[in-house]
Amino acid sequence: MKCCVVTLGCQMNQSDSERIRSVIEGMGYEMTSVEEEATLIGVVACSVRQKAIDKVYSKIQKWNQWKNKKPLVTFVSGCILPADEKKFLKLFDLVFRMNELPELPDMLHQCGVATEFSAMHPLNDLHREDERTDFWQVDPTYSSEFEAFVPIQNGCDKFCSYCAVPYTRGREVSRASDDILAEVKKLVERDVKAITLLGQNVNSYGLDKKGEEISFAELLRKVGELGQRSGKDFWLYFTSPHPRDMTRDVIEAIADYDCLAKQIHLPVQSGDEKLLRRMNRNHSIEDYLKIVDDIRELLPTATIFTDIIVGFSGETDEQLENSAALMERVKFNMAYIAKYSPRVGARSARWEDDISPQVKSERLARLSDVLKRTSLAHNEAMVGKVYRVLIDGRDRRVDGALTGRTEGKLPVRVLDGSEDRVGTICDVEITSVAELSLTGRIRQVR
Ligand code: SAH
Ligand code: SF4
Ligand code: F3S
Repeated sequence: MKCCVVTLGCQMNQSDSERIRSVIEGMGYEMTSVEEEATLIGVVACSVRQKAIDKVYSKIQKWNQWKNKKPLVTFVSGCILPADEKKFLKLFDLVFRMNELPELPDMLHQCGVATEFSAMHPLNDLHREDERTDFWQVDPTYSSEFEAFVPIQNGCDKFCSYCAVPYTRGREVSRASDDILAEVKKLVERDVKAITLLGQNVNSYGLDKKGEEISFAELLRKVGELGQRSGKDFWLYFTSPHPRDMTRDVIEAIADYDCLAKQIHLPVQSGDEKLLRRMNRNHSIEDYLKIVDDIRELLPTATIFTDIIVGFSGETDEQLENSAALMERVKFNMAYIAKYSPRVGARSARWEDDISPQVKSERLARLSDVLKRTSLAHNEAMVGKVYRVLIDGRDRRVDGALTGRTEGKLPVRVLDGSEDRVGTICDVEITSVAELSLTGRIRQVR
């Protein structure tokens, strides 16, 4: 019995998949990445842009055709908007939410015996069920031996006007800090080198628990202490924080512990004051720049990444230039630039999507140019210096080379070094750089 799980979307979905995988393997299935081999096949969907959801439709159409030739049970989970959920019920054998994961074996069992009948969706009281978080108790089957994701919260209360997430993952719920720390401790003991705390607004962690939970800064400090006590060498990341909740104590905590990685992913979405308001981000450009100044002051070696949307409803050329100017000012090391895509249910879907696909592409290229320039200038200053690099695989394009990432998550091509270095942190001397990447050689131990 083989099962294939196709994961779309962000690390949150990858983390969900690791838990889904544990449950399915517990039922006796073997995992495969080859769709054709599977008798149980599912997709963990992302709704953040229409393109991602279109992929789910094309997959299920293909799989439903296969059903004419062989027995196949299909399922979908992950981030699904209510409008799509209704359609998926007709296309998939099973639609389930992550908080129903503990019941997955029962649900699949029923599907297995009655796949020719209509799709099941055993959930009645969705609102109450949204609060359930016992799926976090399922031990994940980590997909890497040296990198791991640890969810610390689910859902989102921010309701940015463009965004689907609050409608797919429900309200913000924090996971118990004891459970988070226990999972991190286990990973550290297993010598995992990069651990990422996950949530839609990691720095509002604990606020939903009204004084019963510690704050995000306190959580970071506890991980820092744990790291110090362990004597192990690892980097702890988190994604994503929201600028609105990015207090100075979070940055101070990162400065105080070696294991808290000096890399900050701080989505800004736009460099224009008015657009930020229309996006309902609830902070000003000045607030954002103040955080950047704090990071530069307290974490001088930190890299800064961001997310930016171009072509949001009503975005003028001038507003786009404000985003470019903000990028010039901050000098991001990486920016995930997305073309705006209206999402049903999100507030901005009622506003005109008035920027043509061509203009969106031009604006994306404009901001990419700024990114490449600022990133190159940063990387050029790294040449000739030695950095610690987590080696994460073999380079597919250059024979004998390895790939890796610095603590600041800058990708490095390492020209020498054997494959047994994969999963270890090595000293690498940077020999040359390109716009968004570095090249280097392993500095031999003296
Ligand atoms: N919680 C994170 C983001 C989660 S969604 C935050 O607050 O930043 C990941 C990214 O997808 C967002 O940062 C945004 O840049 C992009 N995105 C979200 N909705 C989008 C939409 N409707 N169109 C285009 N990009 C979108
Ligand atoms: Fe979406 Fe905004 Fe929540 Fe991020 S903070 S998940 S962009 S609604
Ligand atoms: Fe997509 Fe869900 Fe992540 S909508 S971006 S997979 S939180």
